[in-house]
Formats: sequence, C-alpha cells, structure tokens
Amino acid sequence: MFKKILVTGGAGFIGSNFIRLIIKERNWDIINLDALTYAGNLDNLRDIEDNPRYQFVHGRIEDRDIIRDIISEADAIVNFAAETHVDRSIKDAYPFITTNCIGVQTIIDTIREAGDARVKVLLHVSTDEVYGSLGPDDPPFKETTPLAPNSPYAASKASADFLLRAAIKTYGIPIIITRCSNNYGPYQYPEKLMPLMTINAMQDMPLPVYGDGMNIRDWIHVDDHCRGILAALEKGKIGDVYNLGGECEKTNLEIVKLILGTLNKGEGLITFVADRLGHDRRYAMNIDKARNELGWFPKIEFEQGIYDTINWYRENVDWWKKLLKNAK
Ligand SMILES: NC(=O)c1ccc[n+]([C@@H]2O[C@H](COP(=O)([O-])OP(=O)(O)OC[C@H]3O[C@@H](n4cnc5c(N)ncnc54)[C@H](O)[C@@H]3O)[C@@H](O)[C@H]2O)c1
Repeated sequence: MFKKILVTGGAGFIGSNFIRLIIKERNWDIINLDALTYAGNLDNLRDIEDNPRYQFVHGRIEDRDIIRDIISEADAIVNFAAETHVDRSIKDAYPFITTNCIGVQTIIDTIREAGDARVKVLLHVSTDEVYGSLGPDDPPFKETTPLAPNSPYAASKASADFLLRAAIKTYGIPIIITRCSNNYGPYQYPEKLMPLMTINAMQDMPLPVYGDGMNIRDWIHVDDHCRGILAALEKGKIGDVYNLGGECEKTNLEIVKLILGTLNKGEGLITFVADRLGHDRRYAMNIDKARNELGWFPKIEFEQGIYDTINWYRENVDWWKKLLKNAK
C-alpha cells in the first residue's frame, strides 16, 4: 500500500509501539522524525534500530525544511509528535502550542507546498480529551460530539484538529484523524498514571492520587490503539475522524488498587493529593464508526493487558531507572 512512511514522534510511547507493529506486519520503510524531548527515548526502539527498513532523523515537526526533505520520499505521514502531559501543560502551555499547533500547521503547509508530489495521506493522532468531560450518565463521545477541551493540553490538541479540518475543507489536504482514549502498555514515560503508580509501588513509595480518585478514564492497550491507527490509515475515508477506545471505563482509584494488588503491595501506599486544576471527571468513547467502517475493535482484555504491562515494568527496571535518573 505504501513504500515509505514518515512517523513523527516515533521515539515516544505510542509511536515506538506503532513502528514496531509496522516493522513486523508490513513491508514499508519507516522514517522516524523525533525531537527527542524528555519523552522521546531511543531506547524504546533498540530492538529494531538496525533494521534496514528503519531510519531515525533527529528534528522537530515545526522545521519546514526537514519536513519538506522527508515528505519528498514518503507517501504517508503518521503524526504522533506532541507534548502530551496535562500537568506540564497546566504549568506551561507554550511548548504545547509550539508542537501541537504550530507543528501540525507546518506539516499541513509543507504538504500543501508539495502540490501533486504530496503524500497520499496524513494520519493525525488525536485524543478523547478534545471532547471535554462527561457526567456520570452521559452517553460516550461520538465523532460528532462538539469539541470542548478543558486543559491547555486538550485545547492544543483540539486546535490542531480544527487546523486539520480547515486544511481538509480549504485545500483538500488528504487527512484522517483518529481520537483515542487513555493508553497503557510498555515504554510509557513514567509520569503518566499507569507507569508512575507501578514504579512507585515497586519502590514502596507513595502513590499520589488526585482528589477523590473517582475520575473515570477509558483504558486501551497501546497495541490495540496502534492496530486502530493502522486500520484507519489503510481503510479510513479521507477527511474523516475515527474514535478509538477500549470500552473499558475505570476510576483512577480502581487502577491504583489493581496495580497494588498485582504487585502484592498494601493500599497504605495510596496518598490522596490536591486535585488537578480543571480535572475532567469522565471520558468514554463510542467506537461504533471504527468498528463498522474499519472492522477494528480492541482485542486485548483489560485484566490480561494490565497484568502483562505491570510485568513489563517489573522486568525492565533498567529502562525506567535510566529515565528517572535523567528526568527533566
Ligand atoms: N498516551 C495516551 O494515552 C494518548 C491517548 C490518546 C492520544 N494520544 C496522542 O498520541 C500521540 C503520542 O502520545 P504518546 O503518549 O506516545 O506521547 P509521548 O509523550 O510518549 O511521546 C511524544 C513524542 O513526540 C516527540 N516530540 C515532541 N515534540 C516534538 C516535536 N516538536 N517534533 C518532533 N517530535 C516531537 C517526543 O520526543 C516524543 O518522542 C500524541 O499526539 C498524543 O496526544 C496519546
């Protein structure tokens, strides 16, 4: 289907898992363009870095010259590159606007500039957080739910979705957007709930839980998300948005207790801390469109997925210890 794809942000959590999936299941060449921010880590790709089909380029998506050079060779782009941590966006939104908005507009402009030589498709990886927060009895978000982001992170991602929408309508740029719920799995930077709690529990350190711990997220294994992105890339309709999710709503407290139970640690490690500013209460995704139109659905059962993930962090202590040592 494609000869060569550009993956941006491929040294991060989801991007590195996606590259591994493509190496295994497709014969496409891959260029991974990554800025190597605190969240980008080439250790995430050690097992495939010598593969002749894989090439790494160090650079930023806001750099038009780099993007121009690469897209002259690639026939698809999958954009994972982003600033992704809500807490960091609350402290300083600026890097989020730079990468998540200006970076996305740079990719759009560069595709536009390439004219007929442009890529066949730009798949942009977005998030359920663009939809805002649900009440306990609200139906899950659909692709048609109006965007109502509440954190600077979510607002920067929603802005990107609007810029992409405008690029489709105004210039006919071939874009597909996927919006996914909370991912868990190997290689996730240990500032996010699942790896942070797992690593703290392993070290008998306190597990900081925001507010009353009753905020609900929909959880999906990163491999299911990556398969969903691939399905959208190959079968999605240009100009469309596809929700992806695990159909697995859990409170943060449930997740933390599950991690403690799996690691045989006591619940005394749970420490309630002041709630995150503007903390969204609940996310849930309606994934009927992806199921019906892409034939995709999440396959990894949550209990097994989380058990395997906890074991991965147990078995890869050197990986996370190195990250914690160099933490920025
Ligand atoms: N993690 C989740 O649960 C989740 C859920 C839904 C959607 N998403 C989206 O998926 C994408 C990937 O998320 P993740 O969890 O893997 O993030 P991550 O923070 O682990 O990785 C982001 C990667 O992007 C790179 N990057 C940052 N700024 C860059 C720039 N300007 N130019 C080039 N590279 C840059 C980083 O170095 C890093 O390798 C993001 O767009 C995020 O919004 C994530």
